[in-house]
Amino acid sequence: MTAVDRHVHLRAGGVSLVLAVHDARLPVVVHWGADLGDLDDAALAALERAVAPQPFGYPVDGPMPVSVLPEASTGWPGVRGVTGHRAGGAPTTRFVVTGLRVVDRDAPWSQALELTARDEAAGLGLDLVVEQARSGLVRLRAAVTNRADGVHDVAGVLPALPVPARATELLDLTGHQLRERSPQRLPFAHGRHERTGHRGRPGFDSAFLLCAGEQGFGARTGEVWGVHAAWSGDQRFVAERSYHGVRLLGAGEALAPGEVRLAPGETYTSPWTYATWGHGLDAASGRVHDWLRARPDHPAAPRPVVVNTWEAVTFDHTLSRLTALADAAAEVGAERFVLDDGWFGGRRDDRAGLGDWAVSPAVYPDGLWPLVDHVRALGMDFGLWVEPEMVNPDSDVARAHPEWILRAAGGRLPGPGRHQQVLNLADPGAYAHVLDGLDALLVEYPIASLKWDHNRELGEGGLPPDGRAAVHAQTHAVYRLLDELRARHPGLEVETCASGGGRVDLEILQRTDRVWASDSTDAHERVGIQRWTSLLVPPELLGAHVSSPVAPTSDRALPLDVRCAVALFGHLGIEWDLTEAAPAERARLAQWVAFYRERRGLLHSGRVVHADVPDPAYGLHGVVAHDGSQALYAWVCTASSDTWPPPAVPLPGLDAARTYRVTLDGPITTLEGVAARWGVPLGWVDDGGVELPGALLERVGLALPVLFADRVLLLRAEAVA
Ligand code: DGJ
Repeated sequence: MTAVDRHVHLRAGGVSLVLAVHDARLPVVVHWGADLGDLDDAALAALERAVAPQPFGYPVDGPMPVSVLPEASTGWPGVRGVTGHRAGGAPTTRFVVTGLRVVDRDAPWSQALELTARDEAAGLGLDLVVEQARSGLVRLRAAVTNRADGVHDVAGVLPALPVPARATELLDLTGHQLRERSPQRLPFAHGRHERTGHRGRPGFDSAFLLCAGEQGFGARTGEVWGVHAAWSGDQRFVAERSYHGVRLLGAGEALAPGEVRLAPGETYTSPWTYATWGHGLDAASGRVHDWLRARPDHPAAPRPVVVNTWEAVTFDHTLSRLTALADAAAEVGAERFVLDDGWFGGRRDDRAGLGDWAVSPAVYPDGLWPLVDHVRALGMDFGLWVEPEMVNPDSDVARAHPEWILRAAGGRLPGPGRHQQVLNLADPGAYAHVLDGLDALLVEYPIASLKWDHNRELGEGGLPPDGRAAVHAQTHAVYRLLDELRARHPGLEVETCASGGGRVDLEILQRTDRVWASDSTDAHERVGIQRWTSLLVPPELLGAHVSSPVAPTSDRALPLDVRCAVALFGHLGIEWDLTEAAPAERARLAQWVAFYRERRGLLHSGRVVHADVPDPAYGLHGVVAHDGSQALYAWVCTASSDTWPPPAVPLPGLDAARTYRVTLDGPITTLEGVAARWGVPLGWVDDGGVELPGALLERVGLALPVLFADRVLLLRAEAVA
């Protein structure tokens, strides 16, 4: 067996990925899914022979391997892994593997396959890495180098993994502002399901995690395979099914024509494509959560309770109003006070000042110190909103440096979005302006966190002089900027925000500590937004704020208990002018804050679970401690059901062998105001709890009360034996 003809078995966290390299061609997946155990070379070869499809003569004589970078040169007619051209020539590839090794990696990683290949005719070199985390999560990345004379235009690099024929159904996410990450399901039909966005950010409607699974797969049932493009610019997701029986899932960067042109010796490196598998979505998500949590720099609990000023004051920054808000925040137990938009330059509304990163002397004649000191004296730390990539044309920086603004061909300015344009951070002058401005603030003030916003899509914004697509360069510049600021200010936390949840992906999460999942703080909408964001993002990174009694983004009025119980399952914050809250409301909010502080150890470390509840009016989600000692669940009703009472609902994720006492939990201690007032009381609730083994609670379930629409009940399960 030579170095370029072998099997590789990556095995960790209950997941096996078996790859075969033959005749020095790119690796082909033999198996991706459940752990296959310890298999020697002969067993891996036998497995490959056993599952190899019959060569059928069309489209090519002999087998038609589809590698992790699918190539037309094997006869495969579908989506291609490496596309590009050399002045129109060499549009396809036939890579020959020149080196391959399997190496051990430090935690949170386990092992990696590192492979080099060349295509002499196309003049390309390739470095491919396939890496597996201890949680079983897999990621792939390919670097393409121009090894010949002349320019090579890269059209795209799309790592892809095959899924078995039993993956008959697709699920991915879509959405819009205030309704980010809405799921859509569709059959895995013949042809290509493609989700490509040119927004300069993943967008509200990013596919996020493109999943294929067994028919009807749910949170706890059915095998499911999912891929994610860890890239904060333009993304491309592809699910392709061909009549040959091939089903592929691919994810990567969406490049515009001419965006990446490699001079001799230059390299394009694709973003990481993450791939997760599990029995049910919870297991697939759990592998992502476990990997994130095992990173050395994953934010350690406790995650502070935030009060953010945006919905409380918007642009009305007056010191007395803000200090009064800080007083009220401290009174309810908040631990961080984040000053949102409106503190700098001429930013009295959203038409001016963006890009001028100096504290407004008109609004804050003594700088931010009086507010910062006040906040810190109350025992809270201080956070600040910024939007570093953007400018208002009505700003000092745009007037002084119009050449720093991204433009289309011919110098045409893209149409404004929220009255703003985009700074070209690939320009060293623009980059230094932003870096120096933010750095000066971080040096002067004790700023614990930045809320990093991004309120317009990049649209036609291109690089000078010819308007070449800028997203690739801009995205790397943003990563550099974040890395540099964090290196200079260790401990600084950053929240990723883009008009809400428009920039959430696993690469921005390597340099941010929180996602602002949506500008919708309406608890009704938040149930879905948070559930689907948690496909990748664990609760401690998921910003969830308690809104004012009437959510400003929807005009929906919801009781405080509901708003709190929904926000509880994230990184809790408050987005409400607390100075207007009645004393009784503040007291109740303080109870919830105290409850969050008490339970955040569990909420921010445990396994996130969801029950498969067939009734669309209801949902049950929770967090179970890894040692199985306890769990906290939310039984949520978002609409009136066509059935009542609900059937027994599984409490998922408990230790099957232990016995649990289940009780109501949190500040909601009775069904008053939550559950329908008809009928007789529910037996076990009336008895003050019930004791059952974990196996029964998961497999048989527990009768739960009929809730009013938009009501939540919390349940605690505590192991008693
Ligand atoms: C959009 C964000 O999503 C909001 O939370 C707020 O920070 C505003 N921008 C401020 O302009």
